[in-house]
Amino acid sequence: METKNIGLRGIEVADTRISNIDGEKGKLIYRGFDILDLTKNSTFEETAYLLLYDNLPTKNQIDEFNAKLIEARYIPKQMQKNMGNWRKDADPMDMLQAFVSALAGYYDEEFSNKDASYEKAINLIAKVPTIIASWQRIRNGLDIVDPDSSLGHAANFLYMMTGEKPDPEVEKIFDVCLILHADHTFNASTFTARQVASTRAHMYSAASAAIGALSGELHGGANTEVMKMLLEIGEVEKAESWIKEKIKNNERIMGMGHAVYKTYDPRAQVLKELSRKLAEKTKDPWFEITEKVETITISEMKSKKSRDIYPNVDLYSASIYYMLKIPMDLNTPIFAISRVVGWAAHIIEEKFAEAAPKPALYRPKAVYVGKYCGPQGCEYKTLDLRK
Ligand code: ACO
Repeated sequence: METKNIGLRGIEVADTRISNIDGEKGKLIYRGFDILDLTKNSTFEETAYLLLYDNLPTKNQIDEFNAKLIEARYIPKQMQKNMGNWRKDADPMDMLQAFVSALAGYYDEEFSNKDASYEKAINLIAKVPTIIASWQRIRNGLDIVDPDSSLGHAANFLYMMTGEKPDPEVEKIFDVCLILHADHTFNASTFTARQVASTRAHMYSAASAAIGALSGELHGGANTEVMKMLLEIGEVEKAESWIKEKIKNNERIMGMGHAVYKTYDPRAQVLKELSRKLAEKTKDPWFEITEKVETITISEMKSKKSRDIYPNVDLYSASIYYMLKIPMDLNTPIFAISRVVGWAAHIIEEKFAEAAPKPALYRPKAVYVGKYCGPQGCEYKTLDLRK
């Protein structure tokens, strides 16, 4: 017997009302709205509301939602003190995972009804940026910067991290990046969150598991790896030979390829233009090198491997964050600042779906290919008889 569904590719495991990908057309919708429309017209907070509550908010609803998010931005001082005990070179994703899990120790765990879960979701969305910014300050020996209630979600994170309020253009670029990363159906980290939630574990537990899944380089960790690649390539003239060598050696090019898109990832298109715009301003080479990586990878994969491959969301976000002077190892935690919205929406859907078929505890089947000694099983030998 052979395993048929390796990696669960193409297997439908639950209904969702949250988002949808058309992998052939390169289209992504959140709750029925095209992602491209949202990047043009919406804000991260409004998009978060949409993903959580299934509707664009009215003026009163968004005001109330924003007020709740702003109030929930603070994290316990004790938590910040505990961060000070960590190694300063610890990976920020490990730190984030640990402290998101630790939130359960500070806040009551009433998740038994949908309303309480929405409150936890808001708490989580508000606190993830503060955890990351606090760690960035602490590991650099700097004073912590408290949240600023006059700033939106995107600007407040940049402010808590740097101590400086970003200019409106930078704020807008960062806000668009957050909108683009907020949800993406049953990607690896969201599926992890849903799987944990399906056991009726609580929201912090499911979200911290999702952070672990996001950290891997085949998923959210790719954006950090992209920037390492760009720095290694260093100049546009070296990109072609660098990529050709990697593909010749069957190595993966980070930021390229996707399990669902068979064409250009629509998020990558928006990010590409943002990266281009930023590079025109900063005169950095990173956009140009990334574009070269894109074109050479596409042509090499087609000619040498007969495979169509396109940029994914991580290819151009790397250069954007670098040009915004965000430390490279915060690229993936920033992904989490946004994706935590999707995780929370999916955790709530997993637990409180009202329409049939309701989700069930995930329990796939494995194909056993291990030792077989006949129908009686293998003979157990005591320790003294084993060689
Ligand atoms: N570079 C080189 N080869 C690639 C790449 C790539 N980026 N992506 C896929 N391939 C090749 C694989 O080596 C494999 O070749 P083989 O059949 O000869 O063994 C083949 O294409 C299929 O690869 P799979 O991983 O099985 O298929 P899939 O298309 O589902 O891969 C994935 C999706 C894992 C994202 C892959 O494209 C990849 O590893 N990309 C690089 C990492 C990355 O950018 N991840 C971020 C994805 S977006 C996100 O998670 C936020």
